[in-house]
Amino acid sequence: VHNEQALAARAVLDVLRGTTLADALGSSAPSDPRQGRAFVQELAYGTLRHFGTLRAIARDLAARPFTDPALEALVAVALYQLDHGRSPAFAVVDRAVDAASLVARPAAKRMVNAMLRRYLRERDAVRAHAMRDPVARYSHPRWWIDRVRRDWPDRWQRILAAGNSRPPLTLRANVRVTERDALVARLTADGIAASAIGATGVIVEPPRPVTSLPGFAEGAFAVQDAGAQLAAPLVDAGDGMRVLDACAAPGGKTTHLAELADCAIVALDRDVARLSRVRDNVERLRHSGRDIAIVVGDAADPDAWWDRRAFDRILVDAPCTASGIVRRRPDAKWLRRLADVETAVAEQVRILDSLWPLVARGGKLVYATCSVFVAENEAQAEAFAGRHHDALRETLTFAPEIDAIGGQLLPSAEGGGQNQDGFFYARFRKA
Ligand SMILES: C[S@@+](CC[C@H](N)C(=O)[O-])C[C@H]1O[C@@H](n2cnc3c(N)ncnc32)[C@H](O)[C@@H]1O
Repeated sequence: VHNEQALAARAVLDVLRGTTLADALGSSAPSDPRQGRAFVQELAYGTLRHFGTLRAIARDLAARPFTDPALEALVAVALYQLDHGRSPAFAVVDRAVDAASLVARPAAKRMVNAMLRRYLRERDAVRAHAMRDPVARYSHPRWWIDRVRRDWPDRWQRILAAGNSRPPLTLRANVRVTERDALVARLTADGIAASAIGATGVIVEPPRPVTSLPGFAEGAFAVQDAGAQLAAPLVDAGDGMRVLDACAAPGGKTTHLAELADCAIVALDRDVARLSRVRDNVERLRHSGRDIAIVVGDAADPDAWWDRRAFDRILVDAPCTASGIVRRRPDAKWLRRLADVETAVAEQVRILDSLWPLVARGGKLVYATCSVFVAENEAQAEAFAGRHHDALRETLTFAPEIDAIGGQLLPSAEGGGQNQDGFFYARFRKA
């Protein structure tokens, strides 16, 4: 039986038990009907995006505490539909009642019916009561709310709201094949709403499967957030330079580097499976003929892979908590733990300190994360400069429409300003 709510509830439950949403959907979504799959995906993403709120409401509606987490997940999915979906309320409730016997015991049907009907009758009061809890109000884990509040006392609510917004589909025009405005014109001619953002970006709204967009097969564009599109230009690579992309997979920035200069690139990553996606992207974007070496290795152990020739430029797109891209990965906020921040910081230190000796004199290293936590960003950059007296920090300036504080790009809420994820950039020149 295909019941989209039941499938979405199972995926949500898998995430709460530690699986990424992509993996959870891979194993639970119906593989056949494309429409059904997209709907399950939309329900699971949306439910996780608002899960702090939905779970609090579900718990308020339950006469007794939930003993079955699958049932709690199902009620959250149905509440998501009632608050954010387009299906009529009676249809949502009927489907949820059917789903109840698929994910839980048959007796759960009556309970789900009663809870959802009560919600429809008393929505405002129930919401007002639930929202007294910050986890419900901001729909992020408590430690995450506290951290953003401490790090960004003037901006924390906007940052959290941005994390709960729906991201657009953002493309990067491959300037070896086309350019931004030509890509906008081509999409528009096909009846697809598209608009320019930044030097190479194109926003497609509403999002749709990229493989169906004109130009995909011929490599006219990559999929990349507008904030991420700032990384490769900051590397400032020129023709003939040797460039290391130290955490390269799946190759979003490697391919961008290849589009901006005729340089020799080493694309390194320690994850073999993800490296194969670098190869795929290099091929699809028509960069196979360029000087790009795809290398598996630990960035913090150069002895194992480095040929002893210094690099003119190094990009460290470091592993991080991904707290800046949570609108695209709403599962991440429920998967992460506070201790993960310190783990990420330690790994970033290990990589930065191991790679700095590989930079040629006068060469540059760009440090990037997709996080909004200061410990991974400004504090990390300052500590790095403190440890390496030959590392001269360069001031980065962004276009005026870009919402940035120092090297921190702030994630944009729906419809606001430059529509970007949260990123951090710092650049160091070797004296
Ligand atoms: C933020 S992602 C990189 C995204 C990529 N630069 C892009 O634009 O498509 C971080 C990558 O770092 C890799 N990584 C993590 N620790 C590493 C290490 N010690 N050495 C090399 N790669 C590492 C991960 O496998 C992951 O692919």
